[in-house]
Amino acid sequence: MDQYPDTSRRITDAAATSTGDRLDAYVDRYATRTHGMTASEVRSLFSVASRPEVVSLAGGMPNISGLPMDVVGSLLTELVDKRGLTAMQYGSGQGDALLREQICEIMQTAGIHGHPDDVTVTVGSQQALDLVTRIFIDPGDVILAEAPSYVGALSTFRSYQADVVHIEMDDDGLVPDRLREAIQSVTDSGRRIKFLYTIPNYHNPAGVTLPPERRTEILEICQQADVLIIEDDPYGLLGFDTDCPRALRADDDERVIYLGSFSKTFAPGFRVGWTLAPHAVREKLVLAAESSVLCPPAFSQMAVSQYLVGHDWRGQVKAFREMYRERRDAMLEALDDLMPEGTHWTRPTGGFYVWLTLPSGLDAKAMLPRAVTNRVAYVPGTAFYADGFGSRSMRLSYCYPTPERIREGIRRLAQVVEQEMELRAAFGASATSQRPGLDAPAPNQS
Ligand SMILES: Cc1ncc(COP(=O)(O)O)c(C=O)c1O
Repeated sequence: MDQYPDTSRRITDAAATSTGDRLDAYVDRYATRTHGMTASEVRSLFSVASRPEVVSLAGGMPNISGLPMDVVGSLLTELVDKRGLTAMQYGSGQGDALLREQICEIMQTAGIHGHPDDVTVTVGSQQALDLVTRIFIDPGDVILAEAPSYVGALSTFRSYQADVVHIEMDDDGLVPDRLREAIQSVTDSGRRIKFLYTIPNYHNPAGVTLPPERRTEILEICQQADVLIIEDDPYGLLGFDTDCPRALRADDDERVIYLGSFSKTFAPGFRVGWTLAPHAVREKLVLAAESSVLCPPAFSQMAVSQYLVGHDWRGQVKAFREMYRERRDAMLEALDDLMPEGTHWTRPTGGFYVWLTLPSGLDAKAMLPRAVTNRVAYVPGTAFYADGFGSRSMRLSYCYPTPERIREGIRRLAQVVEQEMELRAAFGASATSQRPGLDAPAPNQS
């Protein structure tokens, strides 16, 4: 019998010839869309930040230590006992019917009156982001996004070769006038805006929230310019002072596609999120979802559904809010007490994050090795921009560490900032790339 040629060897040899000594032998075979797929700064930080001696203010993991595991455990046992055969079977591509009804009830908290038929259950809201990008974006299409923006959305947009145009925010979120200008300038350049991506509540990474009057104005601007809105709202129920703010989707059910998630209000391990979209879009979303995962996991969906019925989930969300509020307070107090003059930060009223901007001339990315040596980690601001801006800023998460660890982390960070300022005074400023708005606040802003 003829010996089958050793193709693996041929691939390696050919790639080695064409790629010289580059490490990835397959590099010339990848589709162009993979060129923008690089590990995020958040990901490459994980190994360092997870060392026990480092206070990590970097990760955005929800703190689920308060979940009643005995309750969840018995709900899951009951699920297996009573409906195991359905829970372990393939399900509908659009998602479990009962869960979609429950999702509609939850969205009423944000003023949304959606129909279960317009809901698509997804594998976390990250898959929802992937699906909306897949069905709307051709390479080179423009997506408008806040500056800074959620790193996971940016990497999805990049993987579909979208052109992200950032729009300035201030302490009240997206600035409507800047949105108007961006729409005008993109339109003047003859390019097509496919959608505006926005996180109106307790923004990741900026920690800011859009006030009601801005929501109305942003909706009006998008209506006039015929721009679709993707409203990403995983944190809406986690406000410290108010119940869930009214969603943009509550006032426009044709222009706004709403994304939600159980990751922050229950647990991210189930990977259950959703979209609420106009009927025609929903059909496309389901087709796109089926082509990638056939159906969202039935077991996870039924577990979430069971949890919503069998547990006081609203009481649990209240407990989460209290826990995150205590951590937010610890971080803001420590920042107020310890940070050197010239450092500025946002004051979140919910969610997980503070956005901090260093004194002029400092570079958060360049400073990171020194910070990790001083046993504190954060995410440099550049991770949250598609265009390399943000180097003077950083995201600080208060969701996971205890209040004591947060205070200690900020103490260590303040030391590093002071050292950097001394170095800068001695050797001169490093070049930084900033844009106005959150990254270059007015001198009297804290
Ligand atoms: C703004 C935003 N959108 C979407 C996600 C994705 O969440 P998940 O896929 O767990 O629902 C996150 C997670 O941190 C987020 O912060």
